[in-house]
Amino acid sequence: MADRAAVEVRGVSRTFRGPRGEMVALKDVNLTIGAGEFVTVVGPSGCGKSTLLNLIVGLIEPTQGELWYAGEPYRGINHDIGYVTQADNLFPWRTVLRNVTFGLEMRHIGTRKDRRRRALELLDQVGLQGFAGHYRHELSGGMRQRVNIVRTIAYNPKVILLDEPFGPLDVQNRLQLQDLLLRLWQSRPGTTVIFITHDLTEAIALGDRVVVMSARPGRVREVFPVTLPRPRDIYTIHTNQIFRSLYDKVWAHLAEEMRVTTS
Ligand SMILES: Nc1ncnc2c1ncn2[C@@H]1O[C@H](COP(=O)(O)OP(=O)(O)OP(=O)(O)O)[C@@H](O)[C@H]1O
Ligand SMILES: [Mg+2]
Repeated sequence: MADRAAVEVRGVSRTFRGPRGEMVALKDVNLTIGAGEFVTVVGPSGCGKSTLLNLIVGLIEPTQGELWYAGEPYRGINHDIGYVTQADNLFPWRTVLRNVTFGLEMRHIGTRKDRRRRALELLDQVGLQGFAGHYRHELSGGMRQRVNIVRTIAYNPKVILLDEPFGPLDVQNRLQLQDLLLRLWQSRPGTTVIFITHDLTEAIALGDRVVVMSARPGRVREVFPVTLPRPRDIYTIHTNQIFRSLYDKVWAHLAEEMRVTTS
């Protein structure tokens, strides 16, 4: 793990109050994520993974505990953190190019020409050359997710949160996008990634560490370092012996939590 902490989740609990009473979504979560680290999070549905990201970006407040960033506690939206949500949320009335430049415009980064150049470069890197003038409805699911990621990466946030970004995609598209994400991350040293997924293969293939969360209320059950060297070949990594034994080990934990959820 990196020496410097980017994000620290310190004793965080989050309760939701509704007409059916109180629901503890997260309970006493402690997690330190190093600057430049790529951390993946897996856990059964409903264990609070999205809630954890919403807390880290500052969309919601913890009921207990604190969030720290770069050695300081914070509250409210953290503008150093970019968030790629599960749904693509692309603006249907803006072209691909103008979806990508949106975050730059909001942050008053560069001139119009600079923003356009940066967006076109990134679209090129993710294989979307020629689609800058398209609208959301003219793109496939995989293309939308590429734009979704690129428009967050465009303004170079120091920390990027991704909530099951490749969930609805087919296997081929998933692998391509995993490969792409790793390359984008590696070309931005120091960028921290927190990536949520349902797919354990994806979690191990991408992560420096895999966090396994326990069923409701969500807690950190176990954290597994991934000792696979980088750069990684996403297309063949699952055949690696280290990968396979780690997969079996983590799966045993995850399966137990999934049984708790359904029993
Ligand atoms: N705004 C909210 N109001 C009330 N309850 C909420 C709210 N957001 C989340 N919850 C509850 O908190 C729990 C955790 O939800 P969350 O969306 O974080 O789970 P998750 O691990 O992301 O699940 P999935 O894997 O299905 O996406 C769930 O029981 C959910 O119903
Ligand atoms: Mg979720």
